[in-house]
Amino acid sequence: MKKETIQPAKCLNGAVELPGDKSISHRYAMLASLAEGTSELRHFSAAADCHSTLGCMKALGAEVAVEKDTVRITGHGAHGLKSSWRALDAGNSGTTMRLLAGILAGQKFSSKLTGDDSLQRRPMKRVIAPLREMGADIRGRDDNFAPLEIRGTKLKAIDYKMPMASAQVKSSVLLAGLFADGVTSVTEPARTRDHTELALEEFGVSIEKNGQTVRVRGLGGGNGNGTLTAKSLDVPGDLSSAVFFLAGASLFSDSNVLIHNVGLNPTRTAILDVFAEMGASVQMLGLKSSQGEIIGDLAVKGASLKGGVIAGARIPLVIDELPMLAALGPFTEEGIEIRDAAELRVKESDRISAAAENLRRMGAQVEERPDGLKVQGRGAGKLHGAEIEPRGDHRIAMAFAVAGLAAEGNTVIRDADCAGVSFPTFFAELNRLAER
Ligand code: S3P
Repeated sequence: MKKETIQPAKCLNGAVELPGDKSISHRYAMLASLAEGTSELRHFSAAADCHSTLGCMKALGAEVAVEKDTVRITGHGAHGLKSSWRALDAGNSGTTMRLLAGILAGQKFSSKLTGDDSLQRRPMKRVIAPLREMGADIRGRDDNFAPLEIRGTKLKAIDYKMPMASAQVKSSVLLAGLFADGVTSVTEPARTRDHTELALEEFGVSIEKNGQTVRVRGLGGGNGNGTLTAKSLDVPGDLSSAVFFLAGASLFSDSNVLIHNVGLNPTRTAILDVFAEMGASVQMLGLKSSQGEIIGDLAVKGASLKGGVIAGARIPLVIDELPMLAALGPFTEEGIEIRDAAELRVKESDRISAAAENLRRMGAQVEERPDGLKVQGRGAGKLHGAEIEPRGDHRIAMAFAVAGLAAEGNTVIRDADCAGVSFPTFFAELNRLAER
């Protein structure tokens, strides 16, 4: 349990090296394992979560070779996975568990999926229910929690209207749809990240999109929607990791930060709109399209942040960035109010409670609500350094390290290693850029 001490900074300056996008890395690893032949995935995420996915795919018979941030995966076709003699360990990763559940539901063998204490407390009914409608045989503790026991079986296509806006649920059903007879459709109530759809297309699976509905045809015995083709792909930098540096740089008038090669998929960039509305100085440069994804550089300078309300259909599009926005609240003019985000309570930690607790530790005025929180702005006083308890949650640890840069006195992040779940080099990068 390593502690990190964050000293106040004068500004952030320099170029940040980001890990590859976590969401995209998971999907490429899973689809490469279902393809025939060897895929090369460059700038694959260093996140522990994505390495949990690699471990699972390896246990399921894919050959996985990791050399720095290049991962080569040899799959044996869509029907080439093999049963694992041991439980598949998704670690801390909800994406690994929920997406893999979809794939495993349609296999000819049984599997057990487990994860760490945090993951075993996160709701799985949201994928169990639609997969069951497809004919899946899945059991979980209290019918909602991991470990999940999945007896693979023949699946049937369904038209699923998602009750919630979740890319993980959408993806789980679409991946199960590859192993179902007929055409599976998923309709989402609000837009969520579309990396699964784009990745499926990259690996040669055709997808039909119509408004908020996505359709995929089952692969059949090898000649339905066809097979998946092994690919060489570059993973863009992770915008959700970049956000800590966008926030940190914004806090100081002398900051000047450049972040190269960031994934700027429009289903992820709502956070940049929020920053722009708050008065942040973030510029997108050199946009290009690659493998269906949009990539570019971000240039950030210091700014005076206004703050504001984040609510409604926007919430699923900025869900991972909300801890950072909450921790920015006390540095803004009007403060930050987050509403309609009860989902935050079932992330890697209860992020509403964790953000409120740690903000208070630093002296902020916070009102915690069932679906969000209201954080008073600058007028309520300056933050002081404190000992931060991230509750094992990477995004809480990183958000409060950034807040610590602009607080009075030192801030200590307990259990700082948890940042490795998405960004193992976060503290090294932050210290490299921070001028004191
Ligand atoms: C993710 C989807 C989101 C996000 C998570 C990654 C994904 O979760 O919070 O970090 O890769 O599909 P939900 O689908 O539960 O909203």
